[in-house]
Amino acid sequence: MRDKWSSKLGFILAAAGSAVGLGNLWKFPYSASTNGGGAFVAIYIAFLIIIGCPLMLAGITLGRKTQLSVFGAYKSINKNWSFVGTLGVICGFFILAFYSTVGGWVLYYLKNALLGGLNITDPNVLGEIFNNLMNSPIELILYQFIFMALTVSIVLKGISGGIEKASKVMMPALFIMLIIVAIRSLTLEGSIEGLKFLFMPDFSKINMEVIINALGQMFFSLSVGMGTMVTYGSYLDKKENILNTGVIVPALDTAVALIAGIAIIPAVFALGFEATEGPGLMFITLPAVFASMPMGNIFNIAFFLLVVFASLTSSISMLEVAVSYFVDEKQKSRVPSTLIIGLVIFALGIPASLSMGIWQDVGILGNLGFFDVYDKLTSNILLPTGAFLLCIFTGWVLKTEEAIKEIESSGVKFKLANIWSILIKYVVPVGVLIILINSYIDFFVSIF
Ligand code: TRP
Repeated sequence: MRDKWSSKLGFILAAAGSAVGLGNLWKFPYSASTNGGGAFVAIYIAFLIIIGCPLMLAGITLGRKTQLSVFGAYKSINKNWSFVGTLGVICGFFILAFYSTVGGWVLYYLKNALLGGLNITDPNVLGEIFNNLMNSPIELILYQFIFMALTVSIVLKGISGGIEKASKVMMPALFIMLIIVAIRSLTLEGSIEGLKFLFMPDFSKINMEVIINALGQMFFSLSVGMGTMVTYGSYLDKKENILNTGVIVPALDTAVALIAGIAIIPAVFALGFEATEGPGLMFITLPAVFASMPMGNIFNIAFFLLVVFASLTSSISMLEVAVSYFVDEKQKSRVPSTLIIGLVIFALGIPASLSMGIWQDVGILGNLGFFDVYDKLTSNILLPTGAFLLCIFTGWVLKTEEAIKEIESSGVKFKLANIWSILIKYVVPVGVLIILINSYIDFFVSIF
């Protein structure tokens, strides 16, 4: 018997757990600040509503209808389309490879917080701590290994036992904690400039690169485009209403990203950091915000602990896509598959970890190092490609009428069915394709 979520709430928390992760807490604030602030946020939200929500629903529907993980789901409806599943599995390997790099940083920061080593207000010292870590290969690889080991140990336990239980406690705790940090950030003197930067769009900052990055960020953050939601949806019982999950999950995800932005960016302005800091932004700014609060170190510990949780509920969803492929399609058993895949991804991730420090000058594609190649290749190329194919598949192969039947099978009425059909059949594929073509060009230009 195939495993199932024990309840709808369990599914929502797990799906939101997959969506909410480093993409929201670490990537969104720094992507927003390096891509023009408010303009990026405005485009992001527009993409979310027009492209993200319809595709989230399409993915969950495909999984629930077929009760199969991503590869089997496509194959069972049309054999020629199973390659989309393969693409998703490959994409998962590369995302998790660099995701575990950052997961390792978070674990290192948690250790540091536990030892009281983060209670610092001086931006320069905090910047140095981050740079030192980037240049310590042994620690990077060690913590990345621990992160992968934690991910593997949860996935080994299967769906309702591991993933669901973990999400139920961690998600709500993270939400409350973030709100506290955001409030603290906003009460710092000078924080208002940060709020303006984040929410008053300067439309002159919009260019193709900002658009490509906003789309990539949206897919990354929602976990859409590689089959995570198809796979998670496949463990849903037929009697559950899936319609509202297509809105609840993106809404929760975006709320967390925006609150993380509010927690980090205003503090950047108030405390005199560089907004264009890049991947170190969260690690350098937040400890300074905590250090300015009473019991700051307790906040440091609690925060990094919750970030560990949030990233684990995401990393397990990526690993689960690959594992379920080998379990469902290749009849391999769960335990050895999980262990081997985990090890392969860890190996793939080592160069990503090193490329932020001692391998900084090693460009594998043009100037891009391993970390950037994995990131750009997945967020800007593979995820939009997967999302485009999911869209064409749902609109024209499975057909939206069939999908709507599945959505309504639990007895709900899908009032926006017509609009959804038009979006899935025409608007989303055309829009994504235009940006995708530019992404390909951009990617190849940056290589040569
Ligand atoms: N969405 C997660 C985050 O924001 C990361 C993630 C999990 C993901 N599963 C995914 C991204 C599948 C892309 C595809 O941290």
